[in-house]
Amino acid sequence: MSFLEEIQRRRTFGIISHPDAGKTTLTEKLLLFGGAIQEAGAVKNNKIKKGATSDFMEIERQRGISVSTSVLAFNYKEKKINILDTPGHKDFAEDTFRTLTAVDSVIVVIDVAKGVEEQTEKLVSVCRMRNIPIIVFINKLDREGKDAFDLMDEVEQKLGLTVTPLSFPIGMGYDFQGIYNLWEQNINLFSGDSRKNIEETIAFSDVQSPELEQIIGQKPADKLREELELIDEVYPKFNQQDYLDGKLQPVFFGSALNNFGVRELLDCFVAIAPSPRPKDSETRLVDPKEEKMSGFVFKIHANMDPKHRDRLAFIKIVSGTFERNKPYFHVRQKKNLKFSSPNAFFAEKKEIVDVSYPGDIVGLHDTGNFKIGDTLTEGEVMSFKGIPSFSPEHFRYINNADPLKAKQLDKGIDQLMDEGVAQLFTLEMNNRKVIGTVGALQYEVIQYRLEHEYGAKCSYENFPVHKACWVKPDDAKSEEFKEFKRIKQKFLAHDKYGQLVFLADSDFTIQMTQSKFPTVKLFFTSEFD
Ligand code: G4P
Repeated sequence: MSFLEEIQRRRTFGIISHPDAGKTTLTEKLLLFGGAIQEAGAVKNNKIKKGATSDFMEIERQRGISVSTSVLAFNYKEKKINILDTPGHKDFAEDTFRTLTAVDSVIVVIDVAKGVEEQTEKLVSVCRMRNIPIIVFINKLDREGKDAFDLMDEVEQKLGLTVTPLSFPIGMGYDFQGIYNLWEQNINLFSGDSRKNIEETIAFSDVQSPELEQIIGQKPADKLREELELIDEVYPKFNQQDYLDGKLQPVFFGSALNNFGVRELLDCFVAIAPSPRPKDSETRLVDPKEEKMSGFVFKIHANMDPKHRDRLAFIKIVSGTFERNKPYFHVRQKKNLKFSSPNAFFAEKKEIVDVSYPGDIVGLHDTGNFKIGDTLTEGEVMSFKGIPSFSPEHFRYINNADPLKAKQLDKGIDQLMDEGVAQLFTLEMNNRKVIGTVGALQYEVIQYRLEHEYGAKCSYENFPVHKACWVKPDDAKSEEFKEFKRIKQKFLAHDKYGQLVFLADSDFTIQMTQSKFPTVKLFFTSEFD
């Protein structure tokens, strides 16, 4: 197969949802279709169990298996599909945001009864910032839920999407009969038995035909006709380019648990979803078809064995081919590195590969060279954009609880931050370290891992910060900026990359600061150019 064909057959995407909407179940059904796993239940463990949200042992367990589920690859209809796992737990949202920089499209799973939930809103807003093509899958149709039109309205309003249904339910919950597939123009009848999945697929391009009554009954037939008419009038016609441009989002209905509507989703997905897309770097747009290899680190996974400190860095290949034992240029460190055992990922295992293509994820063993966001090239000095840090929601001072282990503590903090477990801010005034996290759970994880992997002990102290704002003065030499730095000195810190950050204690403070120092701009993410 040619290089171009290899690129064109790749589909790298993520499934996002609020916890419990059915992401794991859907992932598993997709893998079953791809023949990548043999039985249901294989992916199930990759989840922090309910009721165990404050138990970091549970997180460690999850961390242990998440290497194998980080990337799930399989072939379907001659396409190579890479599903990138996104943790659903809100305390790990940062991890998901970063993974979204490595996907070319996403499928959003929504629970038909619960509708659009908080986590879905956050994740979709990140996708929209990047114009990532989105397909919506409304799940659990075997249960009573919201009216399909109301749900689509909700999706439009809360997620800011423009939707068009490509399938539509016939009944719901107890009365659920099946799906009218607008994409393939057929009806799939539901049997309610997961082993059989679709009872019958009946091609049906003319819904006016009297046969419809015979199949689903008079009343549901009348209703379906009305609904399809309404869809025709109200929703835009599906157009692949609009979908690819992030302007239109097709909606599918189904039941992942019952394997219903999943094949339709997958078939449409492989037909319309994008192959690897060009990616912006700080200097130029990089096209996947370029001969020279480029890629970036979007995830770092620490070894579970505390005695071996090596880690696995996950690289998304953006252009060219990544080859085993070939030297690549580590742009930040300005040095060449060779990798003798790059890993490729399959459904349940990883394997050493000789060549990987754009869209693929390669796992590289790392002894501390990589940070999240690092770029590898064949010599060109450039860095990929698109891995901003967002303001954390919790802030605490971190103190050394064992004076003899200060070095270990520093090293541990440094490496955990490289992995993206949390964000570190160092106060300008006194060099005290502040850890910012998305969820309180991370503090336990950090404490536990510092002790078990680095032999260091830490304690925390509250630091009442509301938001971290990245600071950019219009003129770094202005009197105004000097005055800002003088007045706010107690609250100024540097992030891991040395960028100046203002740790504000309230929205009110942010507003006041902004109006007092209009030429000193404050941003809620680290990437603002
Ligand atoms: P998540 O990864 O998005 O968090 O969700 P997951 O797939 O784990 O699904 C959450 C729950 O919803 C699971 O039940 C799962 O079986 C159920 N579920 C998924 N799809 C459907 C569907 O189409 N219909 C119905 N009725 N249920 C569905 P659970 O009881 O929490 O877990 P389990 O005991 O079944 O593992």
